[in-house]
Amino acid sequence: MDNTALENRVFNPPAEIAENANAKADIYEWAKKDRLGFWDAHAKELVTWFQPYDKILDDSNPPFYKWFVNGKLNVSYNCVDRHAKSNRRNKAAILYESEIGKKVCLTYGMLYREVNKFANVLAGLGVKKGDRVALYMPMIPEATVAMLACARIGAPHSLVFGGFSPESLRDRINDCGAKVLITSDGNFRRGKPFPLKDNADKAMEDTPTIEKCIVVKNAENEVVMKEGRDLWYHELMATAANYYEPEVMDAEDMLFILYTSGTTGKPKGVVHTSGGYLVQTQATLKYVFDIKEDDVYWCTADIGWITGHSYVVYGPLALGTTVFMYDGTIDYPDKDRMWDMAERYGVTKFYTAPTAIRTWMKWGTEYVKKHDLSAIKILGSVGEPINPEAWMWYRENIGHGEAPIMDTWWQTETGAHMVTPLPGVTPLKPGTATVPFPGIEVDIVDENKNSVNEGYLVVKSPWPSMLRTVYGDDNRYIDQYWKKFGDFYFAGDGAKRDEMGYIWVTGRVDDVLNVSGHRLGTAEVESALVECEEVAEAAVVGKKHEVKGESVCAFVILKDGFEGSPELIEKLKKHVGVKIGPIAKPDDIIFTSSLPKTRSGKIMRRLLRDIAEGRAIGDVTTLADPGAMQEIAAKYAGKE
Ligand code: PRX
Repeated sequence: MDNTALENRVFNPPAEIAENANAKADIYEWAKKDRLGFWDAHAKELVTWFQPYDKILDDSNPPFYKWFVNGKLNVSYNCVDRHAKSNRRNKAAILYESEIGKKVCLTYGMLYREVNKFANVLAGLGVKKGDRVALYMPMIPEATVAMLACARIGAPHSLVFGGFSPESLRDRINDCGAKVLITSDGNFRRGKPFPLKDNADKAMEDTPTIEKCIVVKNAENEVVMKEGRDLWYHELMATAANYYEPEVMDAEDMLFILYTSGTTGKPKGVVHTSGGYLVQTQATLKYVFDIKEDDVYWCTADIGWITGHSYVVYGPLALGTTVFMYDGTIDYPDKDRMWDMAERYGVTKFYTAPTAIRTWMKWGTEYVKKHDLSAIKILGSVGEPINPEAWMWYRENIGHGEAPIMDTWWQTETGAHMVTPLPGVTPLKPGTATVPFPGIEVDIVDENKNSVNEGYLVVKSPWPSMLRTVYGDDNRYIDQYWKKFGDFYFAGDGAKRDEMGYIWVTGRVDDVLNVSGHRLGTAEVESALVECEEVAEAAVVGKKHEVKGESVCAFVILKDGFEGSPELIEKLKKHVGVKIGPIAKPDDIIFTSSLPKTRSGKIMRRLLRDIAEGRAIGDVTTLADPGAMQEIAAKYAGKE
C-alpha cells in the first residue's frame, strides 16, 4: 500500500444514492459541532430504552468510560420484540441457506418466539444474569437465536469461531468461566460434515465450569452425548415456554466477551457492553450501508468474529433489516456459489473481506457473469487493507461498475466502524478507508503524539461502542491500549494521510498478523511451535501473500540432535493447526541456527520480514550478532 501518492482515481457518489441517502453531507458538520449531541440524538432515535439515561458520557475515570449512564434497556428486546410487535412482524429477519441447500426463513415474529423459548431453556438450566455462556457454532440461525437469548437473560456470551481447535476453545471457556456451552453436531464443509461436537468434547475434558452442553442437530453426523451433561437443542425447545420477560439491563452491563489475538501468547477477552454498542452498530450500519426497509443485506463474516456480532446479528436486527446468512464454502458446488445466492435472494447490500475478493479475482469473471447482480447497490470491505486492484475488480464485477465500496476500518475492540466513507457523501479512492465516521475523532500521530501524515492510528476521544476492558484484566486493558499515548486510544495500526486528508491504513505495527482478515499473534504461533519436542526457539512473521494478505512464515531453531526435514516441516505445520486452528498454519518453515536479536535479547522480526519478502535487509547495527542475518538469508534462499 505504498501507492497513496499515485492513486488519483476519484469516484463520486452515484446521484441516485446521494439523493435518497440516510446520511447527507451536513452530518459531518453536525457531529463536529456537537459530538455528544450527535450520539445523544442517535441513542434516542435508534434504541428503545426501558429507562432513559441521565448522562451521555461519563469520562471521570479514564480509560474506563461509561456511555448513556443509568440508561436501562435490553438488547434482545431491541432486536426482536419491537419489530415483532410492529408491521415488521412478518418481514424476514433471517434468510438462511446451508452448503447442501437447506433453506430457512425466520420472520421477526418467528425469531421473537425462538429467542424467547431459548431464553427459557437457558434459564431452566440455571443460567442467570451475569453468567457466561460459550458458543461454538456454525453460521446457522440457531446461533443468532442463542446470542439473542443470552442477551435477553443478561448472560454475556463468548463465541469461539468454529475453525478454532479444541485447545483454543478450552482456553477461552476457562478464561471466562462459562457455565454452559452451546454447539452443534457439525456443519458442512465442501459437502463433508465437520465434527464440531467432537472438538467440543475434547475441549470439555478440561473445562471445570461447564455444567451443560446444548447441541443443535445440524449436519446429522454421529455424536456422543454425555449423560447428565449434553442435551439436544430441539428436545429442550419442544417443551419451552413461549415468553421470557427480558432482563432490565444497565447500559454498561456486559453484552459479550470476544477473544482476539494480541501481542502475547494469551488471547484477550474484549468486553463489550449494551447501550453504546447498540447505538453505534446501528448508526454506522444505517449510514454506511444506507439501510432501507426493503434491503436484503448480506455480510459474509462468520458470527464467531466481531464483524459477525456487529453486522450479521446486532446492528442489522436492531434496525429490523432482512439478513441473509450462508453456512458453507464459497466454491461449493462451484465457484459461482456466492453469486448464485446473491441473485436468487436479490441481495442489495454486500459486505465481505479483501481476501475473498482476491480469491474471486483469481478465479476470473466467468463465474460472476453467469448471474444477475443488478440488485446490488452498495458494497463493503473489512478486515485488512484492500489493494486498489481488488477494489477496482470488486466495483467493476460485483458492483456492475457503479456500486460504491465502503472500505470500513475498525477492530474487535472498537465494536463498530470507525473510519469509513458514507455512500451518498464521500468521494471514493480505491484503497483508502477515507475519513472518520461522524462523531469519531481519529488521527495519525508520531511517538510524541504530534499529528503527522504518517505514523500511528489513534482515536482521540471515547466512542460509544468501545471496548470497556479486557475480561478479568483491567491492567492489560490499560497497558495495551492507553499506555503509549495516555488519553489517545492506540489501535496498533500504522496509517498515512493523503492530500485529500484521507486515511490509508497500512497494517499492524505490533506483533499481530492478519491472515485472510483474521488476527493472529506471532507469540501464539511461536508458543505452539516451541511446544514440539524438536523446537528450541521460533520466530514468526507475516509475509505478503497475494490472496491471504499475509501468510505465516516461521523461522525455527531445532534442539541439538534434531535435523530439519520435509517431514518435520509437515509435522510442525500440523501441530500449529491442531493447537490453534487451520488458519494459523505456517506456509513456510525455515530451519536456522540463530535468530536476529538485539543485545537485550529481543527478536528483530522486522529483519526476518525483509528476508521473507525478498527486500534488502534493513539496519542490522543493533543486532548482537550482525552476521546471523547472512545465514538466515541463505537458508531462506535455499528453501525456494
Ligand atoms: O489491522 C487492522 C485490520 O484488522 C485489524 C482488526 O482486526 P479484528 O479485530 O480481527 O477485526 C476485523 C474486523 C473489524 C485492524 O487493527 N483492518 C480491519 N479493517 C481494515 C483493516 N485494515 C485496513 N483497512 C480496513 N478496512
